[in-house]
Amino acid sequence: MQNISNYNKYLSYKSGRLRIENIFLEDIAMKYGTPTFCYSANQIKDNLHNLKNSFSKIKPFICYAMKANFNKEIVKLMAKNNLGIDVVSKGELKESLKCGIKNNKIVFSGVGKTDEEIKFALKKNIKQINVESEEELEEIENQAKSLKKKINISLRVNPNVDAQTHDKISTGRSEDKFGISQEKVEKLLKHYKESKYLNINGLSIHIGSQICKISPFKKAFKKIRNLILSLKKKNIFIDCLDIGGGIGIIYEVNKDKVFKISDYAHLVEENFSDLGIEIIIEPGRFLVGASGVLISKVIRVKKGKRKDFLIVDAGMNNLLRPSLYNSKHSIFPVKSSNKKTKYDVVGPICETSDIFRKSYALSKQEKNDLIIICSVGAYGSSMSSDYNLRGFANEVLIDGNKIF
Ligand code: LLP
Repeated sequence: MQNISNYNKYLSYKSGRLRIENIFLEDIAMKYGTPTFCYSANQIKDNLHNLKNSFSKIKPFICYAMKANFNKEIVKLMAKNNLGIDVVSKGELKESLKCGIKNNKIVFSGVGKTDEEIKFALKKNIKQINVESEEELEEIENQAKSLKKKINISLRVNPNVDAQTHDKISTGRSEDKFGISQEKVEKLLKHYKESKYLNINGLSIHIGSQICKISPFKKAFKKIRNLILSLKKKNIFIDCLDIGGGIGIIYEVNKDKVFKISDYAHLVEENFSDLGIEIIIEPGRFLVGASGVLISKVIRVKKGKRKDFLIVDAGMNNLLRPSLYNSKHSIFPVKSSNKKTKYDVVGPICETSDIFRKSYALSKQEKNDLIIICSVGAYGSSMSSDYNLRGFANEVLIDGNKIF
């Protein structure tokens, strides 16, 4: 039995009607229309609390990976909780500053920073740039020189570790476009040791996303630890290590299995607490994934030859993950009922891949009924588009009785 509170502690039925925190989803649909992304602030706060409290020997600097969800209210919540931020574009950098994130708490990642983006980051005196290639490093040095700035740099290492996640979100294998090989990292550290404009004081890794087994992290952390130790022997000192994001979450209760967050924290401490260096983590999905649901209205039930299609007003333009990664998000009715039937739950977009679930058991639905699609807080709205010109979904953040 799937229990809705297992997706998000703040989802519950009251007299057969679904609530998020203290607000009925029907009321949200009435006020904001459908489809609407709806996030629970307290679920985000709980996730953050769990992550922080899993560490006992070190206090990592948590930089929220804004690409997971750049909703203003969510980024403001992260700022209020003193988090740093991991950005991947000038747009994200500007938006994070607007939402109250301090410049010295911003890490700029990404494999394709443009000249303009590099210049902007240098002018804003951000905490550091995570660099992905020798070519990028040269460009940053040139720009820093002309702006007379010195910038902290972490070199992103490609540890050649398979994260054992979906192929499209694996980033740590040598054939992937990300990071720099270990040998080259050493060469670059030596070459730029005396640079007046680059302070290469850190390393970074990020081996992939939605990682559910601890073993890939174990392999990657061990490799990076050994690298730091071998550099130390050559008098090259690293004082900051950014271990990226990637922590997986449950999308289907009773099916998905993810390591405990305390096991992750323990592994981090086991590998790095004795090194006396700053540890940065960049979680995106772990902080916001479970917090979000997408409320959608049934357009109609179409009786097919072999099955019934539940056509809803959310589509792959709102939530691309099922089409792109075959991800399986659980779906619940907003009004509970015991009469179950099976549907292919599909969107209105003119593509066969616009399908959320196949042959999915749900209570009997009718035109204008409401459903929610779960665990869409990460990479839901942030990957949405205006495909078919259907428009973007509204977004609300709920905190107790309050709607933002
Ligand atoms: N740091 C870096 C350098 C990253 O590239 C990413 C995600 C993160 C941190 C955050 O990873 P997280 O903790 O959220 O796993 N659209 C895909 C996920 C793409 C992740 C891209 N990079 C999805 O919907 O599953």
